[in-house]
Amino acid sequence: TKTIKVGLLGLGTVGTGVYKLIGRRSEEMQQKTGAALEIKKILVHNMKKVRQGVDQNLLTDQWKEIIEDDEIQIVIEVMGGIEPAKTMITEALKAGKNVVSANKDLIAEYGKELYDAAKEGSADFLFEAAVAGGIPIIRPLKQCLEGNQIDEIMGIVNGTTNYILTKMFEDGMDFTEALAKATELGYAEADPTADVEGLDAGRKVAIMATSAFHSQVKFSDVYTEGITKITAADVNYAKEMGNVIKLIGIARNTSNGIEAGVYPMMIDKKHPLATVRDSFNAVFVHGDAVGDTMFYGRGAGELPTASAVVGDVMDVTRNIVWNCTGRIGWSAYKELPIKEFAD
Ligand code: NAP
Ligand code: HSE
Repeated sequence: TKTIKVGLLGLGTVGTGVYKLIGRRSEEMQQKTGAALEIKKILVHNMKKVRQGVDQNLLTDQWKEIIEDDEIQIVIEVMGGIEPAKTMITEALKAGKNVVSANKDLIAEYGKELYDAAKEGSADFLFEAAVAGGIPIIRPLKQCLEGNQIDEIMGIVNGTTNYILTKMFEDGMDFTEALAKATELGYAEADPTADVEGLDAGRKVAIMATSAFHSQVKFSDVYTEGITKITAADVNYAKEMGNVIKLIGIARNTSNGIEAGVYPMMIDKKHPLATVRDSFNAVFVHGDAVGDTMFYGRGAGELPTASAVVGDVMDVTRNIVWNCTGRIGWSAYKELPIKEFAD
């Protein structure tokens, strides 16, 4: 059987999940895709950190050992941040290595450049895990719902803030304590400001809007407002009114252009989005042919996110086996105007 070598960039929350899942499912993955996967090297920052259950011989702190290794055909980027991830992914793609990434910060700003690099290397570039953790949403938007004109995407796309709001509403927990717990559970970003200020959700809205409307929407086009100003008094007031507060991301394709934003919204506790608790996410998509659809599941955390990454890795593996990588290119072929966001 063919063995495909993989380089893993990052072994934090998501990287550890990917390492475990590839180990746990290796036989089935081979049966399903037609090739065995072997993680050849893993890039980390701190070589001294103890990493239980991981073969220490695979670790390196030299990224070129992965990107310049001719045997490695798939690079999984789960480090986060813009640089050095952007340089690493660009070089890997240009060299014909296929890349799977969970890095919404990077994709929301440089998605087009990364697709250009993938085109140059005839490589696959997939990022299902970048939006809503374990929930399949990028592939549905780009492929399964392709027969539709999609006019609206709306939902909860940040697990950390949804966890914090759930704890504030249901357990009377204070904001700082709830954020510390979300960080401990592996939901929060390395800098949780991105979560609580609505930036992470804004990046996800930009990626979903670009995928659904076929016109580039960058993070800077998305209005963002977070949950840091929500007080215990706001929570009590919302409760008295029979409501909950949720951080909602919305993108609409209107006749005047695209509008996109993230902000905390008071919603009736009987609304379907009010029942989305803890780190769960939910996304509603409206298409002209399909009507309303809803995607729901775990939006953050080790194994839910690894589930999305490994699904992409299996897709890439199959494409390598069938010699057809680089099929899915940049699909934002329109240039629709961006209009000011009005909630
Ligand atoms: P994390 O726990 O902070 O892990 C980051 C990993 O990358 C660590 O292993 C770190 O090394 C390594 N790293 C970072 N910068 C490096 C550098 N310059 N050189 C070498 N290694 C470096 O992050 P995470 O939560 O797994 O998130 C990873 C990515 O997935 C991010 O883009 C994040 O936005 C995205 N994501 C996360 C989740 C989630 O639920 N956590 C869900 C979806 C998407 P050390 O171990 O040595 O520190
Ligand atoms: N920090 C992110 C969240 C991770 O809480 O949703 C998943 O993208």
